[in-house]
Amino acid sequence: MPRTTSVVEPPGLTTNRAPFIEEAQRDGRLYIHQPYELYSGENHQAWRRLFARMTPRWERYANEHFLQGIHSLCLDPQRVPKLEDVNRFLQPLTGFQAKAVSGYIPAFVFFDCLRNRSFPTTITIRPSDKLDYLPEPDIFHDVAGHVPMHTDKAFAEALVRFGECAHTAAELAAGIRDEAEQVHRLTSIIKAMARFFWFTIEFGLMRGKGGLRVYGSGLLSSYGEIEHAIDSREVQRYPIQLEWAINQGFAIDHYQPLLFVVDSFDHLFSLVDQLEKWMRAGKLNNVAPGEPQVNERDLKSFLQAATE
Ligand SMILES: [Fe+2]
Repeated sequence: MPRTTSVVEPPGLTTNRAPFIEEAQRDGRLYIHQPYELYSGENHQAWRRLFARMTPRWERYANEHFLQGIHSLCLDPQRVPKLEDVNRFLQPLTGFQAKAVSGYIPAFVFFDCLRNRSFPTTITIRPSDKLDYLPEPDIFHDVAGHVPMHTDKAFAEALVRFGECAHTAAELAAGIRDEAEQVHRLTSIIKAMARFFWFTIEFGLMRGKGGLRVYGSGLLSSYGEIEHAIDSREVQRYPIQLEWAINQGFAIDHYQPLLFVVDSFDHLFSLVDQLEKWMRAGKLNNVAPGEPQVNERDLKSFLQAATE
């Protein structure tokens, strides 16, 4: 019997339902191109709605370097960005580039990309009926939340320096003969690095001319939490102390109750420097237990780098 045909919206490049991405993951391809023609009308609509409702919140809560970055990148509020367009504006400023990936990147590979001024970038976008919460990154988080920060020279240098710390960790691990001790120390160092990244690059606050402002990308891409981070009385905000940040666990499924404040991106750079010194001095070998858990792939990526 002939079936009636109806117009079905193509799957597009929607988070968790993009055949193009599933295929890349099945083939084990981490780095991919951005098949721009696959974005559906719904995908562009999701970008448009996310961008429109965030704009007034950025103006109110985001730090000035981010606002300058949004301006410099000339992002189109109407359509999902093409990474090659983004890179054309970004690269001359700091050498950074957004590089399309198929999904999860093992920790060492991710940090090593930062060291090489390339930022692994998700190309899928959340469904237009789920604009608020998504556990996994999407192109709005990565390009509207992270990439504008990469236009700032001082911030970019801090990020590169952080990438170098991953090499230091692998180098230190290479010098440990006992396998159990090697895994123990490396797990603790990765945990410390992940916590530092979380409390700065993802959820950091900065004191500036206009008062407290957001520079962390997890906040910059969240309509609800950006306001909560600055205005809510439920949030504890403290000047960052490295020893606290690397020993502090966190949960990813609710608004952060504890945030740390830096004075400037030069201050952030000096903290990354200190993190590396502490790593070399063995002060990251036994950080407090708790979240995040270090998974097998992250650990293996560092162990493999240690053998190279
Ligand atoms: Fe992120």
